[in-house]
Amino acid sequence: MISAEKIPNNVNLSGNKRLQRALEHWQPKYIQWWRDMGPQGFQDYHQVYVRTAISVDPEGWAHFEYVKLPEYRWGIFLADPVHDRRIGFGDFLGQPVWQEVPGEFRNQLRRLIVTQGDTEPASVEQQRLLGQRCPSLYDLRNLFQVNVEEGRHLWAMVYLLHSYFGRDGRDEAEELLERQSGNRDKPRILEAFNEPIDNWLDFFMFTMFTDRDGKSQLMSLSESSLDPLSRTTRFMLTEEAHHMFVGETGIARILERTCQLMKEAGFSGDVRKLGGIDIPTIQKHLNLWFSLSLDLHGSEVSSNAASYFANGLKGRAKEDTFDEHVVKDSYYSMEFFEGGKPVTKEILMRNAMNEVLRDWYVGDCAAGVVRWNRILEQHGFSERLRLPDRKFHRGIGMYAGFHFDPNGVPLTSEQWEQRKHEWLPSTADAEYLLSIMAEPIYEPGKFANYIAPPRRGINQLPIDFQYVRTEQ
Ligand SMILES: [Fe+2]
Ligand SMILES: [Fe+2]
Repeated sequence: MISAEKIPNNVNLSGNKRLQRALEHWQPKYIQWWRDMGPQGFQDYHQVYVRTAISVDPEGWAHFEYVKLPEYRWGIFLADPVHDRRIGFGDFLGQPVWQEVPGEFRNQLRRLIVTQGDTEPASVEQQRLLGQRCPSLYDLRNLFQVNVEEGRHLWAMVYLLHSYFGRDGRDEAEELLERQSGNRDKPRILEAFNEPIDNWLDFFMFTMFTDRDGKSQLMSLSESSLDPLSRTTRFMLTEEAHHMFVGETGIARILERTCQLMKEAGFSGDVRKLGGIDIPTIQKHLNLWFSLSLDLHGSEVSSNAASYFANGLKGRAKEDTFDEHVVKDSYYSMEFFEGGKPVTKEILMRNAMNEVLRDWYVGDCAAGVVRWNRILEQHGFSERLRLPDRKFHRGIGMYAGFHFDPNGVPLTSEQWEQRKHEWLPSTADAEYLLSIMAEPIYEPGKFANYIAPPRRGINQLPIDFQYVRTEQ
């Protein structure tokens, strides 16, 4: 059960006074960060109908109530331990999992936890102004649900840092509140988390593609030999699923509305004239966030990834579905780009672990795009959305520094400069989106013109429920 202390938890925090004090010391700094960098304009006078964990079992972790955002009860929840859990991959396969951090892997583990932890507050910062342009109260509530849970994910990583990394861990926890998304001097660690998200098309694409990178990273960390890390990330995955739901259904509802508007627009097909979002604009935002999220998986060939795997720190998504878990002498056929041409080479599988995870990720994204395309199909349109080639618009790995079109055809720098806004959002696109999102919609049951209502409300409530209310 979860205790009702200052910091809700199922890790018996009160049994470890030193840790409890350290976290209670960090808590006010976190709340200050949330007030300064969290949702702007919704801190003091609004109550939001959100989900809070009251226990980690399938029934208990989703408890709904109205809360003021700064009073949300951020806590520390680990999935239940698995009896006699054994290391599932790498050089220590079959040995008991670790309850403490082995000295020789301390730096690597700290780096993994800090990198994951840094993304959580970063996304809250990126999304802090979106509430003022929300398409409905339903969407506003979903935004805040995602935000409070990203805050909780920060708590999850800070708990690990404080518990297992001593003084260094405490310092890292402070720095997690000091770096800022997009800040020139102290940016967030990963590039996709420094990009601004100031319109709702970006937000939905972010939660579809970048939160899904979160899912692949959390899946690989949930395989970790460090049992507290595995249990923490396993619980985070249940929350992550909702974030991707918000993204996938958000885009689905935009597509639904775009189809209606395309029919209204007749053969001219110009849905912008009717205030909708045209398919090419949707495709450009898909291209942007998919390519940025591919980068988050790291370089194709990586000795770090090999070492994380060998040491049992970070496994593959669904490690138990693979036949072989040591992976010492198997190879991965990887496409390289040399002298302007693709060349396939065999790479030691351990060195290709980032690419293996990226393969899983691309497959998961592709399935989502198939679901989106069904909407276009059902409305009788021949347009389709598609994932761009993996080489397109990459900033990390072997394709960084080269240019490709969405089909993977190489381009010169001049060609790229001339044509990039056919594939990526332009300033004009951003201005158009802001123009149709200028006015927030706070009336229950009403939706902005560019997006269809959802099929159903939250927690079986009607769509016109007052998901966010102003305090009287
Ligand atoms: Fe998260
Ligand atoms: Fe997330």
